[in-house]
Amino acid sequence: MTAPVIEMQGICKSFPGVKALSDVSFDARAGEVQALVGENGAGKSTLIKIMSGVYQADSGAVRLGGEPVHFTHPVQSLHAGISVIYQEFSLLPERTVAQNLFLGREPRGKFGLIDERAMRRETRRVLDLFASGAKIDPDSTVGELDVATQQMVEIAKAVSLDARVIVMDEPTAALNDTECAELFETVDKLRDRGAAIIYITHRMREITRLADRVTVLKDGEVAARFDHVPAPDAIVRAMVGRDIVDFYAPPATDAEIGAPVLTVTGGRNARLKNIDLTVRAGEIVGLAGIQGAGRVALAMALFGQEPFTSGETVLNGTAHNFTSPRQAIEAGIGLLPGDRKKEGLVLMQSVRDNAMLTPRAFAPFWATHKRNANADLSRIDDLLDRMDIRAASYEQDIRGLSGGNQQKAIVARWLAMNPKLLIFIEPTRGIDVNAKAGIYHLMRDLARDGAGILMISSDLPEVIGAADRIVVMQEGRITAKFPRGASERDIMHAATHEIGEPA
Ligand SMILES: Nc1ncnc2c1ncn2[C@@H]1O[C@H](COP(=O)(O)OP(=O)(O)OP(=O)(O)O)[C@@H](O)[C@H]1O
Ligand SMILES: [Mg+2]
Repeated sequence: MTAPVIEMQGICKSFPGVKALSDVSFDARAGEVQALVGENGAGKSTLIKIMSGVYQADSGAVRLGGEPVHFTHPVQSLHAGISVIYQEFSLLPERTVAQNLFLGREPRGKFGLIDERAMRRETRRVLDLFASGAKIDPDSTVGELDVATQQMVEIAKAVSLDARVIVMDEPTAALNDTECAELFETVDKLRDRGAAIIYITHRMREITRLADRVTVLKDGEVAARFDHVPAPDAIVRAMVGRDIVDFYAPPATDAEIGAPVLTVTGGRNARLKNIDLTVRAGEIVGLAGIQGAGRVALAMALFGQEPFTSGETVLNGTAHNFTSPRQAIEAGIGLLPGDRKKEGLVLMQSVRDNAMLTPRAFAPFWATHKRNANADLSRIDDLLDRMDIRAASYEQDIRGLSGGNQQKAIVARWLAMNPKLLIFIEPTRGIDVNAKAGIYHLMRDLARDGAGILMISSDLPEVIGAADRIVVMQEGRITAKFPRGASERDIMHAATHEIGEPA
């Protein structure tokens, strides 16, 4: 067995009021993918930040290639061969791909001038090592590239810096299926080239697909180490400390499905064709389809962001033609965009205050960061309790919460608006299995209280497990409607085959 490239021993780290890591030991070897998993707030990102010098450990040791290291700044770890790819990229958006790759270490010509040609040539060489890199132009401006491409640029940068350790913290959170598949190939390639890869994810399928070994953190401690990839149940058990029976499928509805909350007839706009859709009180409708199928466009139309140009929308018995999110919200539609940055968390405010803010889409720009005047405190706390938010207290600054827990505070914010129709877009992205089950139950409770729920998710098992009915879209139109219990195969067929093609 090869010696570890990176070794962390007995790492302890506390933040005010939280012991984030206690006595954690962890290592990764050259040529392997080590999955680092655990619930929201388990300490994964903190461990990585200690490895890379963003945070200092209270105690414990880090060794790189057998030598003790004490990084006090991420630049030091970067130069020592540790590249961390965070979800928030560190590229400069206004510079080109090549400039970003060589930032601070540009090749120089005779007179000390930057050798642009050499830079471009070397960038090309590195990008060409990867199938999805080969498509990238070294001269394109980074800010104009999509998320997947920017991520590939980050990876190319790690490779050109000859990183021995490459850390990816939830790298697929913003990628579609095709982009994910391309990323997995890139990860395989990096492993073949001998990098030690530390891969943080909440998705069991990715662990199965990629990992050689698995380390599970729970409440800041190592809960399990696997030298192979065990069955998902075993990982979940170690993460959560018990079995989760319904980690995909929440209980089926036992409530009466009521009258339609929403009916759209013949809805059209530039991106949508002839949409007929009904969501009834008490039901969860899953909206499936591949990236670009029009699911988000449909949500945006319902929400008044990119309105229908023809057709009829009836909400709770009244015909509407929403032309702004504000109108949609006033009429009783809530939309959870699934991207916490867009939702504008105020990092310096408490968890409770964040949950009490007016959702951004509702308020005019000058009034975002304003409290929702209708929110009542005990109800907010009740909602936060139901979301099972892991925080020292609701008075704590939200910036100290893990990503998944921040997400839950946003869900609470929307629920405080008492919507009749709730549209969830990728509601469990970045949320751990246990909290996911919590969100499914919460959706179910909301439906039972009489709301209609439209759920857009790229996680097919999630749609199948959580929805009472499934509507499939392709190329801006609805291609199929299934009752509960449809198979993955049937849904994929409706999502990808030419319209009219037999199953
Ligand atoms: N800067 C900080 N200030 C205060 N507390 C923090 C800070 N960073 C992390 N914590 C706390 O440390 C614990 C571990 O957080 P961490 O971000 O490492 O979790 P994680 O495993 O990465 O979770 P997620 O899956 O949600 O990203 C949490 O309780 C979190 O609230
Ligand atoms: Mg994290």
